Order: sequence, then C-alpha cells, then structure tokens
Amino acid sequence: MTEANTQPEVNIGLVGHVDHGKTTLVQALSGSWTDQHSEEMKRGISIRLGYADATFRRCPGVDAPECYTVDEECEDGSESEPIRTVSFVDAPGHETLMATMLSGASIMDGAVLVVSATEDVPQAQTEEHLMALDLIGIENIVIAQNKVDLVDRDRAVDNYEQIQEFVEGTVAEDAPIVPVSAQQEVNLDLLIDAIETEIPTPDRDPGESARMYAARSFDINRPGASAEDLKGGVVGGSLVSGELSVGDGLEIRPGREVDEEGQTEWRPLETTVRSLQAGNRDVETAHPGGLLGVGTGLDPSLTKGDALAGQVAGEPGTLPPTREEFEMKVDLLDRVVGKEDDESGESDIEEISTGEPLMLTVGTATTVGAVTSARDGECEVSLKRPVCAESGAQIAINRRVGARWRLIGVGTLT
Ligand code: GTP
Repeated sequence: MTEANTQPEVNIGLVGHVDHGKTTLVQALSGSWTDQHSEEMKRGISIRLGYADATFRRCPGVDAPECYTVDEECEDGSESEPIRTVSFVDAPGHETLMATMLSGASIMDGAVLVVSATEDVPQAQTEEHLMALDLIGIENIVIAQNKVDLVDRDRAVDNYEQIQEFVEGTVAEDAPIVPVSAQQEVNLDLLIDAIETEIPTPDRDPGESARMYAARSFDINRPGASAEDLKGGVVGGSLVSGELSVGDGLEIRPGREVDEEGQTEWRPLETTVRSLQAGNRDVETAHPGGLLGVGTGLDPSLTKGDALAGQVAGEPGTLPPTREEFEMKVDLLDRVVGKEDDESGESDIEEISTGEPLMLTVGTATTVGAVTSARDGECEVSLKRPVCAESGAQIAINRRVGARWRLIGVGTLT
C-alpha cells in the first residue's frame, strides 16, 4: 500500500456477545486476525486487547454506499482511493472479560456493537456491553446485525425489530443498524458508510501534552541476547491526547514498586522515546488513534510480560498523581445486567458497604480495592495496586456477584 498505509486516526471498539462475530468482522475489514490473549488479572493490573487496523477506501466514480471498500482494487479494475485508516479494538466477549472490555472503552472513540441475527436479543453480554458504553459515555455507535446469511428474511426482520426495541432509551437509540454477514462479506460497504458517518475522527489539539494509556508492555529481546544488542523496554498503548515524537522525554506512572528497608513505595519511571511504531511501521511522530509501540530506554525487565499495562505515560511533570487510595462519587445501576437466568447471586444492587472488595477499572488499569468507608453515594477505597488518575476520572465499579465480577456502577474520582 502507498499513502494508505498511514497511522490510524480513530479507535473503534468492537463489542458484543461471545461468538456473535466480532473477530470475523474485524478480519473481514482489516484482513488480519486480532491479537487476542486471555485475560490475566490475578493480582492487579493486566489488560490485553486486540488491535487491527483497517483502511477504508472509495472507488472513484461510484456513488455511496457502493463506493466503500477495503480492497485496493475496485470491481471495474480501477484502484480505490484511501479515505481513512481506523483501528479496531477487539474486546473479548466472554463474560469474565468485562474488565478488559471496560479498560478498552477508555481508549475508544466509538464502537460497533455486533449482534447476531441467529439469537434472541439481548444476549447477556450484548446487554452488559451496551450498558458499559452507556456508562463510560461512548455515544458514537453503529450496530452490526451479523450472520444474516444464516436466517431467512422474516427472522432477520424480526431480529432487527428486537434490536430496535432493545436499544430504545439507551445511548445507542439512534445508532444505525446495518445487516451484515462478516463471514460472507455482505454489506460491508453499508457498514463502512455508517462508520464514516457516525464515528468521525475527534478534533484533537496537537499542542496538548502527550498522554498515553498503556495496554501492553514487552521485552522484545531474545533470550541470551548480548549486552550490546539489548533493546530497551517497549510500551504499547494508545495516545489519548497530544503527540509523541522520537527523542521526547517520557514519564510513566505509577512506575515501579521499590522496596527500601522494608518500606515499599511506587516511583515513576523516566526515560526517553527511542523509537515509535504506529500502523505497523516506524514513525517519527505519533498522534492519537491506533496502537502505538514506544521503544524506550527502560531496562526491559521493567516492561516484560505486560508489567506496565494499565499505567499512564506522558511528558514528564504533566501526569496526574499516583493514588494508592481515593474517594469517588458513586452511581449504582438499578440491577445487575448481563446475568444468565440460571446464574446464582442477587440481581438487585445493594449499596456499597465498608470492607467489601471492588474491582475498579480506571483508564486501562484494573485494580482491586477494599472499601474503607462508604456513605450515601460516595466511598473511599484503598487499592491493592495504585493507579495514575486525575480527579474527574471515570471508574467502572465491579462487585463479586455469585462466581464472577459484575459491573454495578460508575464512579467519579473526587
Ligand atoms: P469472541 O471473541 O469469543 O467474543 O467471539 P467473536 O464475537 O469474535 O466471534 P467470532 O468472530 O469468533 O465468530 C464466532 C463464529 O461465528 C465463528 O465460527 C465464525 O466463523 C462465525 N461467524 C461470524 N460471522 C459470521 C457470519 O456473518 N455468518 C456466518 N455464517 N458465520 C459467522
């Protein structure tokens, strides 16, 4: 590809119930499987999301929506023109991966909700994910009614109406519903048209200081690499504001835990940007949109195995404080969403109580906290692992209900 191989400029979440076809859809639009990993959230922060970039293109001389494609060659043999490169953030739909989906929501500019036409609406995670988009305030939504190749016309219409009814009164109320078959690549032009209209690239100010949410971190050295070949640690994530260039200074918070004479404390890391990869190629300057790989001067042992996932990076001196505890205003949902009928546990959501553990998602960080005090509509939590967050930050609050963590509400850091 020529100029089309540019950096993605917008992050679009792919959300929806397990097996409804998110990954297949991303593959149809981008030609690549997203790099999915199972979630690991044993002792604190670790978030893994799949990213895949897709360049939307237009065939010259053809009317919309038929003009839209991801192929470089049009039906008449002419070459299509690139319009926009987007990055799909593929959040696993399995029920226990809600935290991953929520942490992805912090870097999504919009979302495609994938709903299978072969099942009744809503399925558990269809409801739960839509609720999360609603809570986190993601308003630019397109609904892909997938697998229409597997149902007859009446069933498709019936299912379409169920979707309409289901989204009534939610953030997706006015979202277009596009019938597609991801597997048979049917109606992808209509879907691209809807995404182009509904999920515009946000206005961004390149003068703002750089802020990046780390979703991954790596040690890219082969075992046994010699000292002179050793490459610094790599941090993967998304810029949410500003620009980052090779040579820039970089601070990462909370950083690392240092143990000094029995006292532990979190210290920010400082380094410089040695290399940048965006849209699968090396760049000098990166802007928001897509997954960014930042080569740093950090000791790779600090970045190994997603150790810095959930942390925040940016221009030294500009980052929000590291918090080992915080106070938040709490808005609880009325009831637990996304619960299967046969699952155990209460459906009503009780007030938060002192002493209970909560799982909190702040930016791309997910951490467990114990409630140290709870009053009407407010609570204080002490975190197992600290987070870097400013006041006003939104927090997804999860409680253990039955066998798993459930989204019970949203907090605002005071
Ligand atoms: P998770 O990542 O596990 O949440 O699943 P997913 O939503 O990404 O679903 P995935 O893309 O893995 O698709 C699930 C199954 O449905 C696969 O066997 C796909 O081949 C199939 N599938 C997806 N889209 C379509 C479609 O449009 N038509 C048909 N017939 N099958 C589809």
